[in-house]
Amino acid sequence: MIAFLRGRFLPRCARLGAITLMWATCAHAELSLLPYPQHLQQHEGSFVLNKQVVLDAPADARGREIAGFLRDAIRVQAGVSLPEHAKAGDGTRIELRIDPAVRGDEAYRLTVTPQRITLSASSDKGLFWGVQTLRQLMPRQPSSQSVASIPALQIDDAPAFVYRGHMLDVGRHFYPLAFVKKQIDLMSYYKLNTFRWHLTEDQGWRIEIKKYPNLTKFGAWRTEPDGSRHGGYYTQDQIRELVEYARQRNVMVIPEIEMPGHSSAAVAAYPQLSCSKKPIDVPNGWGVFKHVYCVGDEAAFTFVQDVLDEVIPLFPAPYMHIGGDEVPAGAWADCSSCAPLMQKLGIKDEAGLQSYFVKRIQTYLAGKGKTMIGWDEILEGGVDRSAVIEIWRGEAEGRKALANGNRIVNAGPYYLDSPLSELTLEAIYRVNPLGDPQYAAQRERVLGAEAPLWSEHADPLNAEAMLYPRLLAFAERLWRGGAVNAAAFADFRQRLQAQYAQLDAWQVGYGPEDRNLVEYSMSSNDRHDGWQLHAKRGFDDLQNHYTTDGSEPSAASPYFTEVLDVAAPGTIRVTPFRQGRPYQHPRTFKLSSNLALGGSVSFDPSPSPRYSKNSATALIDGVLGSDEFKDGAWLGWEETDPRITVDLHRPTAVREISIGLLQRAESWVLLPAQVSFSVSDDQVHWTPLQTVTPTPVGLDKQAHLQRVAFSAVQPLSTRFIRIEVQRHSKLDGRNTWTFADEILVR
Ligand code: ACM
Ligand code: ZN
Repeated sequence: MIAFLRGRFLPRCARLGAITLMWATCAHAELSLLPYPQHLQQHEGSFVLNKQVVLDAPADARGREIAGFLRDAIRVQAGVSLPEHAKAGDGTRIELRIDPAVRGDEAYRLTVTPQRITLSASSDKGLFWGVQTLRQLMPRQPSSQSVASIPALQIDDAPAFVYRGHMLDVGRHFYPLAFVKKQIDLMSYYKLNTFRWHLTEDQGWRIEIKKYPNLTKFGAWRTEPDGSRHGGYYTQDQIRELVEYARQRNVMVIPEIEMPGHSSAAVAAYPQLSCSKKPIDVPNGWGVFKHVYCVGDEAAFTFVQDVLDEVIPLFPAPYMHIGGDEVPAGAWADCSSCAPLMQKLGIKDEAGLQSYFVKRIQTYLAGKGKTMIGWDEILEGGVDRSAVIEIWRGEAEGRKALANGNRIVNAGPYYLDSPLSELTLEAIYRVNPLGDPQYAAQRERVLGAEAPLWSEHADPLNAEAMLYPRLLAFAERLWRGGAVNAAAFADFRQRLQAQYAQLDAWQVGYGPEDRNLVEYSMSSNDRHDGWQLHAKRGFDDLQNHYTTDGSEPSAASPYFTEVLDVAAPGTIRVTPFRQGRPYQHPRTFKLSSNLALGGSVSFDPSPSPRYSKNSATALIDGVLGSDEFKDGAWLGWEETDPRITVDLHRPTAVREISIGLLQRAESWVLLPAQVSFSVSDDQVHWTPLQTVTPTPVGLDKQAHLQRVAFSAVQPLSTRFIRIEVQRHSKLDGRNTWTFADEILVR
């Protein structure tokens, strides 16, 4: 693929516009800089890194720090230790200097000749980015075969956007500090300058607040559906450590403390914060929760302001993100504190109440010298124009914010939790951050963009496969700006290939560019005496390690590449590995023997085509569903009573017939009211067997799997089986769904 691209697309020098360049110079120019600089002109020759090179830098603290960072990089990448103290002389030199003539806060100019490297910028920010460019121009690691050199060139570079951000949701899943530091290293290497730390969520509070110890004692921990505990938090010392680590690397850290919604973990720790004041558990499912702060109760403001008082000193950034998204309708309805407040202030609706809350917090933050950032919901009911609005629900919200006079950061097109097959590397690259005409017309108030990783389905094991390489496409686009075409993407992609060796060296578990890491599917084999597990792989060197005893697969477990034949029922667990490293948590398949294997099924009406690709066999293939109705094993019917008929193809002695059903109330998937079983030899005369009522379960956010069965006292002989399901209709006014995974005949 790389060779193909090299042949097809313009060599980079054709873009440089450097008419003086000889073709020969160009042909061996392999500068895989990423992001690619705004202007680069390559020259003859190179600068050799050796022990005689003198490094000269501004004498202030940051100048010395940046020089130290470069010295470390030269030692690690070139194997050369430069002298600690600059000596006068006419030897080769690297000179870092502040030069106000280089215009732009993050701009830099880098001139490399065989005698001298000169890096100049008007600020330490620009100097630091120039050092990162130098690192990309150096060898990745020392080599005994060749001298370490940097090609002669001139670069004039500056970012198109001032806000080039990545957000990590550490609330849904906790990430250790070492993981976060690694991402800061990567962001900095690719010149992203803003790390947004999403520190509080419904499912976990992750920052120590000394005045409210229960936030981390209780709010940082949850019991998972399987009974295990998940959680963790950062102490204030750890927060300071990370902020300092990021500062050294030119990355600003902006915390997000969610309010008034996404606050279940805080409410679990301090129930008096909510309208109902009732105790709750820290949730272990996903969705939008109604446990929000009671805006009618002054105690909630006291709490939020106390929390902000502890958070603000930890983060020198001028911004504070308060979330503000997804307060569910009705959250404040019927509250004996919120209703009178609304009446007193003449507030008509919940948007007005949210706006009242947001404006008070904004005023509080302004008093502490902080600019508030919030998700685009904070526009509802009106918000002061000094707030920065983070856009996630589409460009119409961005237009609204710009029309209101606010500055914006665009996040919607960059949700990195989207599957790779749906949001490909190229799709990210192709987004024009100024694609909307109004955005372009209000250019100075479009600060930039942010690529969030929400962590419902991400954690330290699989997050890097979602982040990379897409975050590199994002980094280049935000740095370079402008519109792109296919040739520009191909050029980026070619340079990206050279980055993979670097990512491998840093043990970054990046994912594929345009396919999911792996897609597993289990089906019965053609002989109907066993199964086949298929793996559609995103990498050719991906190996699927598996176990059959229920244990977690390791690198020592047997593996397959594309197809595994499974002869016996039981539990198969499979984990994708590359280079000995697991990339995801295991996927579990439960297989059951089933006399209906090889039979056929008909439906009235047909199930939704959305959930299983094999609706003809999914209910009789012996593959049981997990608690996730999108796993391919489930069939779903919306607001209808399905009748399912199984043809066993021959008279068969049957002792038991059962159907597996699911409830996920938060997705309007309900267990049915009744299930009726009948049998027939000719599909004309049906013998009713039994009508069974599933055991009722609560309308909570848990997954409830239930197998509803008819058991015969004596084995009966039949060819056809019919199951009729009667649903519970409508939940909160919305259509309900019936989901079934398997009809087992024994
Ligand atoms: C969001 O995705 N709720 C900002
Ligand atoms: Zn209330």
